[in-house]
Amino acid sequence: MAAQTKSQTIKVLVVMGTRPEVIKLAPVIEALQNGKKAGASGTGKSCKVRFKTIICLTGQHREMVEPFLKIFGIKPDYDLRVMQPDQHLGELTGRVLAGMKKVLEVEKPDWLLVQGDTTSALAAALAAFYHRIKIGHVEAGLRTDDKYNPFPEEINRRLISHLADLHFAPTGLARKNLLREGISPERIFVTGNTVVDALKMILKKTGRVGGVQVAVPGEVLRIQEARKESPTGAVSTAKLSFAEIKKIKKLILVTAHRRESFGPGMENICRAILRVVESEKSAEVIFPVHLNPAVRRAVFQHLLGRPRIHLVEPLDYVTFIHLMRRASLILTDSGGIQEEAPSLGVPAVVMRETTERPEAIQAGVAWLAGTDPDTITRLALRLLKKVESGEFRRGLRRRNPFGDGRAGQRIALLLKRGGSGRPRR
Ligand code: UD1
Ligand code: UDP
Repeated sequence: MAAQTKSQTIKVLVVMGTRPEVIKLAPVIEALQNGKKAGASGTGKSCKVRFKTIICLTGQHREMVEPFLKIFGIKPDYDLRVMQPDQHLGELTGRVLAGMKKVLEVEKPDWLLVQGDTTSALAAALAAFYHRIKIGHVEAGLRTDDKYNPFPEEINRRLISHLADLHFAPTGLARKNLLREGISPERIFVTGNTVVDALKMILKKTGRVGGVQVAVPGEVLRIQEARKESPTGAVSTAKLSFAEIKKIKKLILVTAHRRESFGPGMENICRAILRVVESEKSAEVIFPVHLNPAVRRAVFQHLLGRPRIHLVEPLDYVTFIHLMRRASLILTDSGGIQEEAPSLGVPAVVMRETTERPEAIQAGVAWLAGTDPDTITRLALRLLKKVESGEFRRGLRRRNPFGDGRAGQRIALLLKRGGSGRPRR
């Protein structure tokens, strides 16, 4: 008698709102969409488990998300279009919560997947909880144990941990943090961070891992310099070509956008950048300026038109990865870039008071500077010297603390098993 085949479909609703969520959920979406493996039921009948993946954009980010959807080939089924200029956190939370209610009522998924610690992730998880829908949390367990650093992300992720049913922790340390908060060990899985998968996906498309080439041969990368009007009324329409970037002797790549740094912190970061280029004449800064108006006001006021400082619009992932690999040094307050630095072997000065990614510091690739201009300047100049002498490269460790690039597959497999089994790492 022919074996009977039962088929089971698991409906997964993946919710994303911002640039890093698209990057870090792209490998999970790919694994879910490719995951059609048959599994034995142990009764002589086989059970085919497949996923139906629904993608919902909250629209927390707009221009900053579109190129990322394109490069990863993600086609959203829903777009809640919540973004407003200079948006208030409470109002943003309310708009996502209201929008998610309608999507959940129509789709009734088995699982809702969120990533990280944004307002979109928290509000979507809360909406799913109200509908008694199971929640999977990608990049669970990151902590600084400081309520206002980063703000509001530290509280967002703690709340998500207490709403979630499955916790996909990127590292062993993240797992320990969850255990410390009373999360049941059977619900936590160490998968690695999906950012490593995303980096590999892009490098596979555009260049060799460990090589130098990222752009397609012959392609000229053109970066639009930041266009918004400066406070003095000047408008920059200049373009920075790939050829010009190639001539830069010491490239320093900068990003900054954290809410807790608005005000004196952001001004100090700008002061430090000015001091570094003043002291190191062969250094040039490329700073893709985040679209948050609060960031742009401060950065334009202090840095627009300064020699050897290029303020450019936010960059697509391929161009940004190219610049990270080309850079002698990164100055950043970004979470994702702290994880990418060890993957690419570039030193990063973290311009924040705390970090939830101490693994990058332990790996000898990142240094926590706070926002004090003296500390940032001192560390930056010291690291530029270490890079020039080769000392930095000689000290690099081989093993990437953030994973092996297979986190997305592990997450899909765990969802398929309904959260049983433990991937070894
Ligand atoms: C958000 C996340 C932060 C994450 C960051 C990634 C929260 C509370 N914060 O911060 O954790 O590190 O994204 O970049 O979830 N804007 C645009 N176009 C865009 C994106 C933003 O114009 O494509 C402007 C809008 O005026 C918007 C403002 O930036 O109101 C702030 O955006 P928001 O998502 O609230 O905060 P981020 O600082 O981007
Ligand atoms: N990034 C990018 N272009 C840019 C700046 C950043 O592609 O102009 C990428 C970066 O490589 C990282 C992610 O965006 O993967 C980080 O986003 P962001 O710093 O906005 O958010 P965070 O990680 O701090 O939440």
